[in-house]
Amino acid sequence: MSGMRTEVAIVGAGPAGLLLSHLLAQDGVDSVVVERQSRQHVEARIRAGILEHSTVQLLDAAGLGERLHRDGFEHRGIYLQWPGERHHIDFLDRVGRSVWVYGQTQVTKDLGRAREADGQRILYEVSQTAVHDLESDTPSVTCVDRDGADVRIDAAVVVGCDGSFGPCRAAVPEAVRRTWERVYPYSWLGILADVAPSTDDLIYAWHPDGFALHSMRSAIVSRLYLQVPNGTDVETWPDDRIWAALATRLGHGQDGWQLTPGPITEKSVLPMRSYVQTPMRYGNLFLAGDAAHIVPPTGAKGLNLAVADVGLLAPALVALLRKKDTALAEAYSDTALRRVWRCTHFSWWMTTMLHTNGDPFDEQLQLSQLRWVAGSDAGAQGLAENYAGLPIGF
Ligand code: FAD
Ligand code: PHB
Repeated sequence: MSGMRTEVAIVGAGPAGLLLSHLLAQDGVDSVVVERQSRQHVEARIRAGILEHSTVQLLDAAGLGERLHRDGFEHRGIYLQWPGERHHIDFLDRVGRSVWVYGQTQVTKDLGRAREADGQRILYEVSQTAVHDLESDTPSVTCVDRDGADVRIDAAVVVGCDGSFGPCRAAVPEAVRRTWERVYPYSWLGILADVAPSTDDLIYAWHPDGFALHSMRSAIVSRLYLQVPNGTDVETWPDDRIWAALATRLGHGQDGWQLTPGPITEKSVLPMRSYVQTPMRYGNLFLAGDAAHIVPPTGAKGLNLAVADVGLLAPALVALLRKKDTALAEAYSDTALRRVWRCTHFSWWMTTMLHTNGDPFDEQLQLSQLRWVAGSDAGAQGLAENYAGLPIGF
């Protein structure tokens, strides 16, 4: 067994774990990160694409914004549409905040490079990760490294940044934890395509056949999604079928708008659920990001919530470890959960407003709500404020 000692042992090198190690290092707090996958795998995972205002501010302040500002795209709003109508909701005009299109793959690459340059200790490709003695002042993480050697990391604090399937959330005793869950009766079929986006801002489309979303990654790469039934096999969706469904649902031909198809380079089906586990702290274990909560992607909140958690947790741990000041660490779970529940509601609201479920009554309510959101200042303002993101700590 090889032993390591650090101040903060972090499980998971996704955006939450990497960013936390970066922010802690900036304040001189040492950490060790353990990660189940390889660095290449983590950096290639196609996931979120939208950074809200406060995420960009935090990355900038942490010295991580250079490539984001060079290669990312600032967007002033989104389109909401349903058959025959498309409406632009302008976030900049309404709430003075924009969002940025910059893939999670790029965020993790920027973080990976910054951590490497800093000499961060990250153990990739570990197995059998387990957390121990969380109620004590000497918690630890054990795992088996990529060469098969047993490793033990002793720390003052353990942080679970290990996503929705990691071991940390389950380490909170059942008598202490409480969970909330909503599983949606539909999934997304997502594609990446080597074709210039057919739109300037993202299009969120309600359609009787199901929801569709036109997003993008760059001037030459588009990201698009279709609502499909749960359990859908991607093999049943050849490229032609995907483009035909996207054209119908996104309104090809409506007011002269055209959807340009192109070669599809990635295809996957993702189920959708909302999940929250409380509290986000148990003894000397803290949870951040997907380890504590999952949102359906319709509100583009998953990655942003992970960043917001870490934005609260890093100063709390610095105060705890440097000044023995426990106030922020004690407040962390309650403070983070206020934003978590706001984003959980917003993501649920966007999801249930835009996805069809076969119920004709619900369809009429959805269309009525969409007309209200797009047509009333109060409705549009609410969407803009939530989508562009509330300030960290709201
Ligand atoms: P993760 O990115 O999941 O990172 C957790 C890390 O922990 C992983 O690297 C994992 O390998 C590691 N880990 C797990 N178990 C262990 C273990 N036992 N030991 C060591 N390490 C471990 N959000 C959006 O906003 N928009 C989207 O379009 C979108 N699409 C998504 C598509 C998919 C398929 C998924 C799964 C998520 C998507 N999300 C999306 C959500 C968003 O990607 C997440 O909210 C974000 O990745 C959260 O970051 P995180 O660091 O908390 O968790
Ligand atoms: C994406 O570009 O992957 C994306 C954008 C907006 C969403 C979800 C996903 O709401």
